Parts: sequence; C-alpha cells; structure tokens
Amino acid sequence: MTNKLKFTLKLSSLLSNFPKLQTKLLIDSLDKNNIPNHVAIVMDGNGRWAKKRGLPRIKGHIEGTKSIKRVLEIAYDLNIKYITLFALSQENWDRPKQEVDGILKIIRKSLHDELNQLNEKGIKVFIIGNFERVPEDIIKTIKNVQKTTKSNEKMNFCIAFSYGGREEITQAAKNLAKDVLEGKIKIHDIEENIFRNYLYTKDIPDPDLLIRTSGEIRISNFLLWQMAYTEFVFTPVLWPDFNKYHFLKAILEYQVRERRFGLV
Ligand code: IPE
Ligand code: MG
Repeated sequence: MTNKLKFTLKLSSLLSNFPKLQTKLLIDSLDKNNIPNHVAIVMDGNGRWAKKRGLPRIKGHIEGTKSIKRVLEIAYDLNIKYITLFALSQENWDRPKQEVDGILKIIRKSLHDELNQLNEKGIKVFIIGNFERVPEDIIKTIKNVQKTTKSNEKMNFCIAFSYGGREEITQAAKNLAKDVLEGKIKIHDIEENIFRNYLYTKDIPDPDLLIRTSGEIRISNFLLWQMAYTEFVFTPVLWPDFNKYHFLKAILEYQVRERRFGLV
C-alpha cells in the first residue's frame, strides 16, 4: 500500500462520525481512469450479524438488503458497469427450511419492490444460476425483471441465485458436448472463447475485483472460471454493516494493485 493511500485511509477513518465527508474524501482520491468495470461480491456474515444481537438469522438477511442498496447506489455513482452479487449458492439450499424460505421471501419481495426503481435508473438486471429448485413464481418474476430491464444500459446488475461455479462449468460442458454430437461445432474448434459462451455469464465480462465480507478468505464456488485474473479484497466487516465507505476502500485497494495478467 502506498503512503498516500495509507494517509487517505487514516484521515478518512478519523471522519467516521461524518459519513458524507468521509465518502467524499475517498471518492475524491479515486483514480477515475482506473475504476473496475466489474465488481463481484460474496455477501457474507448476515447470520453472525444477527447472532451478535441475539436476533434470528433471518433478521441479518433482511438487514443485508440495505447493504445491497448502498452498494448499488455507490457503484452507480462511480459509473461501475457491472455488479454481481452472490445472493444464494447451490449449497445454501441445504440450510434449515425456515431460513431458506425466509431468504426466498426476501428475494421475492425485493425483486418485486425494486423493479421500477432499477428500471427507471437504467439498470439492466440478469439472474444467473440453476433454477431447477427455484419455486415457479420466482422464476416468473425473474423472467419479468430480465425482460423489463433488458434494454437498459447505464449499469448491469447480475444476481447469482442458486448458483454454483462447478455446476455452471459442468452444465457448459454438457451443452457443448451436445452441440458437438449434433455437428454444430467440431472438437478441433473448441477454444476458451467458445467454451465461455456456454457459461451463464456469456454476456458479462470477467470480474476485475472480488470483495468478500465477514473475514472468510475463500471463494466458495463463486465464478470459478471467470475469476482467473480477478483481484481479491477480503474485509472482516459483516455484510449488514458493509457501507459505501467500505466499498470505496476496497476500490482504492484495487487501484494500488498491479495487474499483470501473467506478463512481466
Ligand atoms: C450470507 O450470510 C448470506 C447468504 C448466504 C444468503 P450467511 O448467512 O452466510 O451468514 P454467516 O456466514 O452465517 O454469518
Ligand atoms: Mg456465511
């Protein structure tokens, strides 16, 4: 970390009682020519946030939706083109039914309540994942949200829902094999750029930055193919506590990384 960045972060941490000023200081110190094009986030720590307060886990998930709004707002202001959030993993289906039902209820309600505002702001919404276990009414809502926002261009908001990276790659291999069998493509012509088109993210560039909250240092089956050259920022902050200041700090950290993509 450079001294200048250390100084900025120190100064901004002293301003924690003045969040607007704190945010402004960080925004002013960003390099506007080096804003990541795509930021992916593993939103983690909702359960621990609730537990710390003696609340049921679902309260943490509800509080976490406020962080989503904050992050979308700041990303929008910074002109970040793609935001991908890990909303539900394939593995999360095996949590207690009460929690899964609670999370589904939040997703159902959020998609419904936020659609107009997202659309008015020019945000295009994608939802990626395997919908086999997703209730029919949510699939219908997902289709409606995607259709309503499909021509929007200001920002792309991708929600990974019932998503697993290995499942995505396996599914891609299966569909590619099918196309080979049907003679649509020759084995000889399969390259990375062809394979990529079989992923759920075929229309989305790879993430430049991954943020994971709650102090866990792993990627948990998120965007495995896509994160080959992504920069990782891990923060101990629990997701419901994650705010614009933390997001800006992660962007600043990204900006001092030297990305070489395997070159010298
Ligand atoms: C992340 O928070 C939200 C989802 C997985 C849906 P957790 O629910 O994993 O919270 P912790 O890790 O138990 O604190
Ligand atoms: Mg967790």
